[in-house]
Amino acid sequence: MQRKIAIIGTGYVGLTTGVCLAHLGHKITCVDKNKNKVRKLKKGIIPIYEPGLNEILKKHQRNIEFTTNLKNAVNKSEVIFITVGTPSRKDRDIDMTYFKRAINEVANLLKEYKVIVNKSTVPVSTGDWTKKEIKKYYKGDFAVVSNPEFLREGSALKDFLGPDRIVIGVEDKKAKNIMLDIYSSIKTPKIITDIRSAELIKYASNAFLATKISFINEIATICEKTGGDIEKVAEGIGYDKRIGKHFLKAGIGFGGSCFPKDIDGLIKIADKKNYNFRLLKAVSLVNKNQQKNFVRKIKKILKKINGDTICIWGLSFKPNTDDVRKSPAIEIIKRLQKTNYKIRVYDPIAIENAKRELSLKNIKFYKSAFEAVKNSDVLVLVTEWPEFSEIDMKKVKNLMRRPYFLDGRNQFEPKKMKKLGFYYQSIGRG
Ligand code: UDX
Repeated sequence: MQRKIAIIGTGYVGLTTGVCLAHLGHKITCVDKNKNKVRKLKKGIIPIYEPGLNEILKKHQRNIEFTTNLKNAVNKSEVIFITVGTPSRKDRDIDMTYFKRAINEVANLLKEYKVIVNKSTVPVSTGDWTKKEIKKYYKGDFAVVSNPEFLREGSALKDFLGPDRIVIGVEDKKAKNIMLDIYSSIKTPKIITDIRSAELIKYASNAFLATKISFINEIATICEKTGGDIEKVAEGIGYDKRIGKHFLKAGIGFGGSCFPKDIDGLIKIADKKNYNFRLLKAVSLVNKNQQKNFVRKIKKILKKINGDTICIWGLSFKPNTDDVRKSPAIEIIKRLQKTNYKIRVYDPIAIENAKRELSLKNIKFYKSAFEAVKNSDVLVLVTEWPEFSEIDMKKVKNLMRRPYFLDGRNQFEPKKMKKLGFYYQSIGRG
C-alpha cells in the first residue's frame, strides 16, 4: 500500500531514504530548512555525490516533493521520518540540537495519529525522551519508532534497497504494521524489537565493524615486525565463517562521518552509566596511531633520502565519495603541514571539500594524478580510488624525482612495484 511519508532533513540519510522510499512506491515529502537546498532539489540538483541517486530521483519525481513547509508536510503524512544530523560535539558527546528541535517542531503540529520514525543515530533512550517531549504538546495518540540506517556512502542505494536486515524498534502494534508495510517489498530479515535495543543495534554494529578494522591494523603491525603478509593473514582468517571476510582490510585506519563519531558516542553513553568501555577506547586509539605511524614512515623516508616533496593520492575517507569528514588523508596532511615539506595532492573529486578543511600551508592541489606526482620524492597513496589501479605506473615512476612509494591501502602488488623500480612500502606486508 502506498504510504504518505514526510522526511525531515535532506542530508545524506534523508535524501537517500526519501528517494528510495519513493522508489518503493510511497508518496514522499522531503522537508529542509535550507531554502537554497530545497530550490536546487526541486530542480533535480542533488547536493551530495552518491552513485545512482540522481537517476533514481528523476525516475520517481512524481512520488517525491521538496519543501521548506514543515506544517504541510506533517499534515499530509501519516509517517514522519526524522533524518537530521546528530554530529559530535567538541567534547565528543552527541549533539542532539537538530534532533530535539525537529521533534519539538513536529510535536507542535500533531493533530491526529502519526508514526514518528527516528533514523538519526541517537543515544539509547532517545525514543523515551521523544515520547515524553511529544506528550508535552500533544495529548492524542501517536507512536515512536527507531529504524536505524546502515547506509555506506558510495553504495547507499544498494544498502537501502537490498539491506542485510531492517531493524524496527517499536512498541505499538499499529505502527509495527505500518513499518512492515512500508518495507514489504524488500525481502530481508526484519528485526522487530524494543526501541532501546534498536537504538543500540546501530551503535553496536558500527562499533563492531570499527573494532574489526583496528584489529586487523594491529595484526598488520605485528606482520611488519615479524615478516608476515597481512593480506594473506586476513584471507586466512576471513574464510572462518565465524570471523567473515569483510572489514578486514588493513590500511591507514577508518574515517568518515559515522565510525569515529559513533565510537565516541558509544563511549560517552557507557561513561554516563559509569562504565569504562575499554575495548572501544582502544579501537579509537589504534586508529589514531595508525595515521601517526604512517606519517612517521613518510618522514623517515624523506629523512633518509634528504627529500622534501610529497605527493598524496586521495583525500576522501574512502573511494567513490567526495566526503572528507574525519578522513585519514586530512589528518595525515595536517600533521605533514606542521613540517616544511612541500605537499602535492590529487583526488578525483574531493579537492573542493578538502580545501575547506585544510590550511593552504605548503600544499598544492592538482587536476591529475600525473601532474601531482611530478618531481616528488615520495608518492603516498591514502585513498584507494579505482583509477589508481589503472594508472601507468611506469610513467608515474619516470615523473618522480625519486621512486619512493608508500601505499597506505595496499592497493598495489609489492612484487610488481619492485619490478618497476619503486622502493615500495605498504601496510603489514613484511
Ligand atoms: C559506515 C557503515 O559501514 C554503515 O553501515 C553506517 O551506516 C555508516 O558508517 P561509511 O562511513 O559510508 O559506512 O563507510 P565504510 O565503507 O563502512 O568505511 C568506513 C571507513 O573504514 C573508511 O575510511 C574505510 O576506508 C575504512 N575501512 C573499511 C577500512 O579501513 N578497512 C576495511 O576493511 C573497511
